[in-house]
Amino acid sequence: MGRIRILPDQVANQIAAGEVVDRPASVVKELLENALDAGSNRIKVEVEAGGRKLIRIADDGCGMNRDDALLAFERHATSKLRTAEDLLAIATLGFRGEALPSIASVARVTLETATGEESAGTRIEIAGGKILRAEDAAVPRGTTIAVADLFFNTPARRKFLRAESTELAHVTALVTHYARAHPEKHFELVSATHTLLSAPPVGRTAERIYQIFGRDTLAQLLPVAAESPLEHAGLPEPPPWKRDQSEPRREPGALRLSGFYSKPELQKLNRNSIYIFVNKRLIRDRLLLHAITEAYRNVIPPTSYPVVLLFLEMPAAEVDVNVHPAKTEVRFRQQTLIHDFVRDSLRTALVKARPAASFVAALDASPQASPSLMPPATSPLPGAPGPEARVGSEGGEPLTGLDAGTESFALTMKPLTPALEKLPFDAALPNGSGFDHKIWGEGAAALLLPPVPLAGPDCSPNHADSVTLSGNPAAEAARVEAEQAATTLNHLRSLKPIGQLRDSFILASGEDGLWIVDQHVAHERVLFEKILRDRSVEQVQRQKLLMPLLVELKPAHMVVFARISGELERNGFEVEPFGPQTLAVKAAPVGLEGSALERMLAEVVDQCAADSGETYSNEGLKELRQRIAASIACHSAIKVNTPLDPVRMEWLLLELAKTSHPTSCPHGRPIALLYSWREIHRAFHRT
Ligand SMILES: Nc1ncnc2c1ncn2[C@@H]1O[C@H](COP(=O)(O)OP(=O)(O)OP(=O)(O)O)[C@@H](O)[C@H]1O
Ligand SMILES: [Mg+2]
Repeated sequence: MGRIRILPDQVANQIAAGEVVDRPASVVKELLENALDAGSNRIKVEVEAGGRKLIRIADDGCGMNRDDALLAFERHATSKLRTAEDLLAIATLGFRGEALPSIASVARVTLETATGEESAGTRIEIAGGKILRAEDAAVPRGTTIAVADLFFNTPARRKFLRAESTELAHVTALVTHYARAHPEKHFELVSATHTLLSAPPVGRTAERIYQIFGRDTLAQLLPVAAESPLEHAGLPEPPPWKRDQSEPRREPGALRLSGFYSKPELQKLNRNSIYIFVNKRLIRDRLLLHAITEAYRNVIPPTSYPVVLLFLEMPAAEVDVNVHPAKTEVRFRQQTLIHDFVRDSLRTALVKARPAASFVAALDASPQASPSLMPPATSPLPGAPGPEARVGSEGGEPLTGLDAGTESFALTMKPLTPALEKLPFDAALPNGSGFDHKIWGEGAAALLLPPVPLAGPDCSPNHADSVTLSGNPAAEAARVEAEQAATTLNHLRSLKPIGQLRDSFILASGEDGLWIVDQHVAHERVLFEKILRDRSVEQVQRQKLLMPLLVELKPAHMVVFARISGELERNGFEVEPFGPQTLAVKAAPVGLEGSALERMLAEVVDQCAADSGETYSNEGLKELRQRIAASIACHSAIKVNTPLDPVRMEWLLLELAKTSHPTSCPHGRPIALLYSWREIHRAFHRT
């Protein structure tokens, strides 16, 4: 007798379940997607014990009749796909016909469903893949699926589940994502003790963000929208003589992007705050992550990441969703086009908005590990490596307290209240500030403190119990947007310099408040963009040195120098090797002299030492140019502790206003901070 056997259905289903269902959040994802595909407007998710004990999802979608309800638990039974051609243009979230049988093989499932067209609905009970009961039931139109005792028959899998709070955090993250993608639908998530999310329908994504995360998160994000016609959708058109005349001509359609991106002042240590939806499907995609990082290049530090919520819409034939077992990855048919579209749309939006960094927000602007649009320590996607796994690889902080303290987290920021409690004044005061408590009294120190409490642990999302915000989301969202529109760096042009602080910072008054501009980084940005511009038209201005300047390099760096010498020359340098470890600089870009020139060269060579390969690719060359420009700019810009007369200050502000990214220097540091009238009024208790 042969050794090969066909596996029984139940075993096959359990194996499939290994790919489809790995934790409660993945069950929730599958059931939510089914509810959305069924055209539901209202979806309620209940979980007990982080979903290990019970997950119940009720929707008001199209429901199923008795035959369909029974068939739905068979493998490869789906209403969403008929032929192989359908696979080329999937417009639904599901298509494999695998989710329900997989879930039913590893849990006890009760399905109640009714189409509203028949006299009776249906109730089906299944445990470990076996149908226990199928009967009539009086239920309203829609479907309710209860999944109890997940992995009750697969103890090995159950062992891999994390603490209840962790699983609950994953579930919450997931429901939140889908709520963001569908602002027009009503989402609710409740646990045994809390309402974790309650999001009634709203008109726009901005309102939904306000509804879920509150005003402060919305205020840190800027809207983006773009559209580009597509040349051809999916497979190329057959030639005219081969076309079936009866078939309607396929319209190429368009590529649309909408969403939100963070101001440069908001920075994250990892990519966990970047959410990408393609045709309303939440995905992870390296290509698009790269496009987003590119858009922020030289605007935030290379080690930081922005917060981005991106909704991409394209004809279904443009994207293959059938490439990942958990449907969390896709493949685009026109990859480069989509990459460049995302990068350019974001970059253009950044240049146009030129958001001003708030003085108050900048005080807390060091990159954060926890995603701002999520409860702390939750994974954006089931099937993607969990936060635990990502931490090491992406340099995030260990997500402590994950298992211990997230049970009562919710999604809103705690509303900011005036800082009445005792603040650690001594710690907050800079050394040598000269502030003497004995003379002025304790309370006076508050004058030196920021006017509103800094976002700290108390403002993190895990403190509020409920997520519904009072107020009208539409009106609130509109108010936040109006405020944002007012605080853009376009106003730089009309600023009046008042003077200099410690010969290092320009103080200027404008219509929107008080500005503080770091003169060194401001000049650095002006020079950086000028150098790149001049280089692109081969017009870099160089100056001959009276005497060649000798620069010593480490022995290994001479090879690196040889690799970049051509590019240096195009940037205004005339440098020749002068002995085994020495370079003789005969000419340099205008403005770069003496020790600054020496340091700049050593810095660039050092930075390029890590680059691999003999020559640079196009992409690498672009990066090299930016690196050289950033280094020249940094070393030739006005230093701090340099007195400036009013004419120079005005000139600098004007030049800064002309740049594309006056928000930050090429290394990502903020240039101009705005102490807005609103903040000033709040600080003086005038509102
Ligand atoms: N909430 C629901 N409302 C109405 N019909 C549903 C619902 N859930 C499932 N169904 C029906 O059951 C079928 C099987 O669901 P299942 O999730 O197993 O597969 P699918 O959604 O077609 O594909 P995938 O495995 O990719 O999710 C669906 O095609 C749909 O017709
Ligand atoms: Mg499905």
